[in-house]
Amino acid sequence: MELISGKIKETREQVKEWKRQGFTVGLVPTMGYLHEGHKSLMEAAKKENDKVAVSIFVNPIQFGPKEDFASYPRDFDRDAALCESVGVDLIFHPVAGEMYGEDFCTYVDMDGLTKELCGKSRPTHFRGVQTVVSKLFHIIPADRAYFGQKDAQQLAVIKRMARDLSMDIEIVGCPIIREEDGLAKSSRNTYLNKEERQAALVLNRSLAEGKKLIEAGVRDAAQIKQRIEETIGQEKLAKIDYVELVDFADITPIGNLSKAKEGEVLCAIAVFIGKTRLIDNFIWKGFGD
Ligand code: PAJ
Repeated sequence: MELISGKIKETREQVKEWKRQGFTVGLVPTMGYLHEGHKSLMEAAKKENDKVAVSIFVNPIQFGPKEDFASYPRDFDRDAALCESVGVDLIFHPVAGEMYGEDFCTYVDMDGLTKELCGKSRPTHFRGVQTVVSKLFHIIPADRAYFGQKDAQQLAVIKRMARDLSMDIEIVGCPIIREEDGLAKSSRNTYLNKEERQAALVLNRSLAEGKKLIEAGVRDAAQIKQRIEETIGQEKLAKIDYVELVDFADITPIGNLSKAKEGEVLCAIAVFIGKTRLIDNFIWKGFGD
């Protein structure tokens, strides 16, 4: 590890120095409490770049007032050890005051893509994500940045932001990493007690039911949505936030899967298991269907 820093200036200087020396740089933005999902992004970054920077910052402005900012799990020493084991070169872990001065008032916002899915129940979430990711791109001027498909809407939003604002960075999407029993890995899984952990399997199971219908030739989104909702409904501890099928190109609702503008449909769900809100999804690539 060449640098572990909470300071913007020092971090930027290090990355600029790498650029001067002709190294390519990959960035993996995270909120810490790292697991195999984050690790897969770091490994992808390691393969494709000379240097890898990881940011660890629980970003207050992407949490709503009633959300879990205070209780979000944190363990910097464990995270640093995991980064070290993957060969990460730099960790940027600022305190909130370093990122947001008391008079902070500039945000990055988007008209499209952020209104559906998680945007409905978390109206200021993506504004917070875009703002912090823009700041990170300025602090760590990387060649590539890595994001997981686990947060598929976030991936679409960041790709569009980078394109619309002509940011000089390539956004790389990486597949969802799951536990052996199918539950998508998430820092929030630690909130689940034993019974809830078992109940949480309904997310992946319901998506598999939806996929089965598509594989059997169904293209009507309403029918697929209904099957997924019914499957989730069978689990007592689960409460649906949303089940939606959208065009992955612009995150707008889609009636018939064959009509997707670029041939990709995102089937995304958010489900409360007890008090814990979990998300999962799959992307159906039916181009030429
Ligand atoms: P966080 O939830 O820590 O996730 C950091 C990155 O890891 C995201 O790109 C996310 O999609 C990816 N990730 C999480 N679980 C994954 C899994 N099971 N498989 C593959 N990738 C996974 O997402 C955020 O932090 C924040 O919103 C952030 C982008 C850092 C901005 O604050």
